[in-house]
Amino acid sequence: MTNDTARPRALVTGASAGLGEVFATKLAKKGYDLVITARRKDRLEALAESLASSGAATEVIEADLATDAGVDLLVPTAGEVDLLVNNAGFGTVGDFAELPIERELNELNVNVRALMRLSHAALRGMTERGRGAIINVASTAAFQPIPHNATYAATKAFVLHFSEALHEEAKRRGVTVTCLCPGPVKTEFQEVAGVNESTVPAIMWTSAEDVVDSALSAMAVRRAYVVPGAMNVMTAMGGRLVPRFLTRKVAGAFFRDRAQP
Ligand SMILES: NC(=O)c1ccc[n+]([C@@H]2O[C@H](COP(=O)([O-])OP(=O)(O)OC[C@H]3O[C@@H](n4cnc5c(N)ncnc54)[C@H](OP(=O)(O)O)[C@@H]3O)[C@@H](O)[C@H]2O)c1
Repeated sequence: MTNDTARPRALVTGASAGLGEVFATKLAKKGYDLVITARRKDRLEALAESLASSGAATEVIEADLATDAGVDLLVPTAGEVDLLVNNAGFGTVGDFAELPIERELNELNVNVRALMRLSHAALRGMTERGRGAIINVASTAAFQPIPHNATYAATKAFVLHFSEALHEEAKRRGVTVTCLCPGPVKTEFQEVAGVNESTVPAIMWTSAEDVVDSALSAMAVRRAYVVPGAMNVMTAMGGRLVPRFLTRKVAGAFFRDRAQP
């Protein structure tokens, strides 16, 4: 059911922590009803309760986006909402050959396959209705290959290229697709990826609040992508000005010692 008269409805994946939780909170304050999803249902239920103070009706759907069955649970909702935020994702750090292949494949499933299926369902509904928006969360990792972070950077390169292409296809149909490319943000992401936070220069960090504000502003003015923070813009764009072999070497050097001891 599309909400024509009252509050618009947004589906936010990965809402049990970090950026997803901030997206849900800010959208509720902006007048959206929410469908929030992740694996940790207790966290989602606590968030749903806190969103009620903004007047938002919130539905909780527990789903593991590494599985087709988990994505199946969300496809019908994705087809109905006014805004889809494909935010769920995680990274892995280390030499690819030494990392467990099952986890790498799950990373591909969550970061790419789930995002692709939900974007497809959402775009079908939105283009038919002639309105709607999708925010796909990539990363500054999308702008270059990253040795020792190979799968993550490749999944985010997919998200950026895919989203930019969809942006062009959808805009003629009244639908906006915006790709968010944050640099480092203090969430549970580093702990999950096993990244040693102290190896990230202080100047690179952006707050989750600022990142989400940037995404919502970019969506409002129908931008194809946004990189929050001047330093992150410089690193993302800088890679385009130097030879490719150099970009990947520098990125690799930056990640070589990032794994937690
Ligand atoms: N933080 C950063 O430095 C940074 C930088 C650039 C881009 N990003 C991107 O920003 C997005 C949000 O990350 P974050 O920083 O907010 O990280 P976070 O705090 O670790 O949150 C990740 C969210 O994704 C969900 N998720 C992970 N695996 C899932 C699965 N198999 N099924 C369903 N949900 C799953 C988690 O929920 P459950 O564990 O409850 O399932 C959680 O809600 C990600 O796409 C990430 O790649 C983050």
